[in-house]
Amino acid sequence: MSQQTKQLTLALSKGRIFDDTLPLLQAAGITVTEDPETSRKLILQTTDAALRVIIVRASDVPTYVQYGAADFGVAGKDVLIEHGGEGLYQPVDLQIAKCRMSVAVEEGFDYASAVRHGARLRVATKYVEIARRHFASKGVHVDLIKLYGSMELAPLVGLSDVIVDLVSTGNTLRANRLVEVEKIMDISSRLIVNQAAFKLKREYLQPILAAFEAASLNVI
Ligand code: ATP
Ligand code: PRP
Repeated sequence: MSQQTKQLTLALSKGRIFDDTLPLLQAAGITVTEDPETSRKLILQTTDAALRVIIVRASDVPTYVQYGAADFGVAGKDVLIEHGGEGLYQPVDLQIAKCRMSVAVEEGFDYASAVRHGARLRVATKYVEIARRHFASKGVHVDLIKLYGSMELAPLVGLSDVIVDLVSTGNTLRANRLVEVEKIMDISSRLIVNQAAFKLKREYLQPILAAFEAASLNVI
């Protein structure tokens, strides 16, 4: 078997996904030897010579795995729905980075009444596919406004009537005088695997995938 077939590349994003994946790697007996918060390196070595970690934007993780630049990765359900999931196996819900996708409005905006009266809503969000599906299923007409961050600002400055964003503690909404009016779905992160690697590198991937799965069951 070639050296390349033995080498595994795991794609992670900095922050909560990296932090929450470390204990799962630990369960597989693997430690990442560098800290992405202090190192500017994008390729990190691990205590397993056959496994390296690459650091990419959260929304880029599925793309790296889809094209085989990484064999496997960890990505939020939000990111996976927006990506579409082509070329990916999604074998394990790791139960990490848990939050929910919700509709929120500025305090005082009567969302229920706007929906009841068939108003056309301006929706600002980074998650256009999730928002499109949600409002289509409710039969609500919307104009989707794509943003890349700080969605909470949009209703406060008149850019939109509502936002669709991730909520965990609710602190960000409260700090900006917004209220959650509808939960769209629960979100957690999944292990994703390149379909070709799943077959060709099975021997090397399987023990790590099994350890991740076992460790994630303990998290629940
Ligand atoms: P990008 O860098 O690509 O714009 P991002 O800034 O959303 O993405 P992170 O903030 O690291 O990336 O979030 C990674 C994942 O963690 C998200 O895709 C989501 O599934 C989950 N997540 C986001 N916010 C929270 C939160 N407040 N609490 C728990 N999980 C969260
Ligand atoms: C996420 C999300 C919300 C916030 C919700 O932002 O986009 O703004 O968390 O969490 P809360 O309900 O606990 O306040 P994040 O912290 O990832 O910042 P970012 O969007 O800049 O990455």
